[in-house]
Amino acid sequence: MPPLLFRCSPLSRLSRSASVIGLLVFGSVTPAVAAFIQPARSDRDMVVSAHPLATAAGSAMLRQGGNAVDGAVATALAIAVVEPFSAGLGGGGFALWHESESGEVTALDFRERAPATAGRDLYLNAAGEPQSQLSRNGHLAVGVPGTVAGLYALHQRYGELPWARVVQPSRVMASQGFVVSDLLASEIAGNAERLAQNLAAAAVFLPDGKPLQAGEVLRQSDLAQTLGQIAVEPQDFYEGEIAKAIAADMQANGGLITQADLKAYQPIWRDPICGPFRQYEICSMPPPSSGGVHLLQMLNLIGDTDLAAQGWHHPNGLHLLAEVMKIAYADRAEHLGDPDFVEVPIAALVNPAYADARRQEIEPQRARSAEEVKASDTETLERYRNFKESNDTTHLTVVDRDRNAVSMTYTINGRFGAGVVAAGTGIVLNNEMDDFAIAPDTPNLFGLVGGEANSVAPGKTPLSSMTPTIVLEDSQLRMAVGSPGGSTIITTVLQIILNVLVHDMDAGAAVSAPRIHHQWLPETLRIEQYGFDRLTVDALEARGHQLQFRRGWGNANAIVVGPNGELTGAADLRGEGIAQGGR
Ligand code: GLY
Repeated sequence: MPPLLFRCSPLSRLSRSASVIGLLVFGSVTPAVAAFIQPARSDRDMVVSAHPLATAAGSAMLRQGGNAVDGAVATALAIAVVEPFSAGLGGGGFALWHESESGEVTALDFRERAPATAGRDLYLNAAGEPQSQLSRNGHLAVGVPGTVAGLYALHQRYGELPWARVVQPSRVMASQGFVVSDLLASEIAGNAERLAQNLAAAAVFLPDGKPLQAGEVLRQSDLAQTLGQIAVEPQDFYEGEIAKAIAADMQANGGLITQADLKAYQPIWRDPICGPFRQYEICSMPPPSSGGVHLLQMLNLIGDTDLAAQGWHHPNGLHLLAEVMKIAYADRAEHLGDPDFVEVPIAALVNPAYADARRQEIEPQRARSAEEVKASDTETLERYRNFKESNDTTHLTVVDRDRNAVSMTYTINGRFGAGVVAAGTGIVLNNEMDDFAIAPDTPNLFGLVGGEANSVAPGKTPLSSMTPTIVLEDSQLRMAVGSPGGSTIITTVLQIILNVLVHDMDAGAAVSAPRIHHQWLPETLRIEQYGFDRLTVDALEARGHQLQFRRGWGNANAIVVGPNGELTGAADLRGEGIAQGGR
């Protein structure tokens, strides 16, 4: 059988230019360019994901009469095959489901959990010093994976097609192979040193000792077999042969996960966190993700400020966003953790009255330092000097013919997770343990700090920033959105929501538009290179923002319902994804 091809890379999409509706060039001192992608349109249904083959897998389910859950599960499993650096069977995530008939939104937490023998000091050396490399690389970094249990639970409750049918496309992709894209090739090359440390990972991604190149075919026979077993009996991952293989691999390599940990794994149905923003209801993921809490908190802090009257990306509006972001991320570091283990003051954090009080702190003409927003000692600040970014994770959005919707973000955390594949299974294992605060004020992979609330404990879930979100208007779907990008996820989702609800953009413009990001620490306002004109940059610097120009981050996708009921969907130009609408 020939390997599967996908349509084209984002750059070739740009050069074909049929999909680009605006190429905006601002200013002359700093060249600033923003390309806005034309969204896919459909009156029927829509799938958007980070990879064309994954979008095709989900769309095939809708064409076969499946609903949004069937489409989302097939898409997510396909991502595990074609985007093995971002998410997969060895990871976990969160999903929101909107049932159009009842207007209800349900949330599913299938995030990884700490193994039973993981304790608070797991990543400290004998002198009590944090050892971040242990929470990021190798078997000790792996949390108990939730993907298979989560996707199966979602499908059992809401899916319509047979389970084996939704697993089929990914199994075929793994066994038949697919053509390696530029993005996948660059991720493999960029992580080749880590992957070479693990025989099973090297066998998949570094055949003959060399990184797979763009245009070569990646066949994953172990993963195909694993998917075949899961198609017949998903619990095999937790109690059968797959569980045995994972536990044996852990034991052989100093990992903690046992068969008992796998058997104990349960996804958790949670009430989504919902709150008003103007005439809309915003529903997102509650703890153990911080995404929903801080998305609502930031929207509350923006409140009635007339961003539309200021104009899109006016320096006043950008300054307000940056100051709002700092407050939210300062609270995150202090208060957020697994609600099954610690008291999270959710009601206070999303209370509009709390936002009203804290909004008073914001000075319209001056950027406040992290110490002013929340005291932080100089030693802590010093540790942030060398903060490095890592983008990963994946998001997918599906709306079916009945306007049911799934918004799902899932991950193996860092690129290629812990950098290890469980021998004999083809499963890339996560390094989600790094999302715990391994020691107070020690930044994780994304530069985020935390304290007691997010310390390691047996069975506990590490705090996340994933923000799968569904927006309702009069109980009807208005938009569904999400993104990868670690700490930047919440601010990416915030800006896309504002682009649609305040600035009236369609899905294509909303996900394409240049972004900013502030996370309180480090003390820099990240600003997308080529996205902002010199005058705007000067105006932000004049207020005291320490700007850090970065290439684009995140890989968002969104589906928006227009006033005439038409769906528009778009995958981020910053990735290689694609939106596909039904006819
Ligand atoms: N692993 C990134 C997150 O969950 O936020």
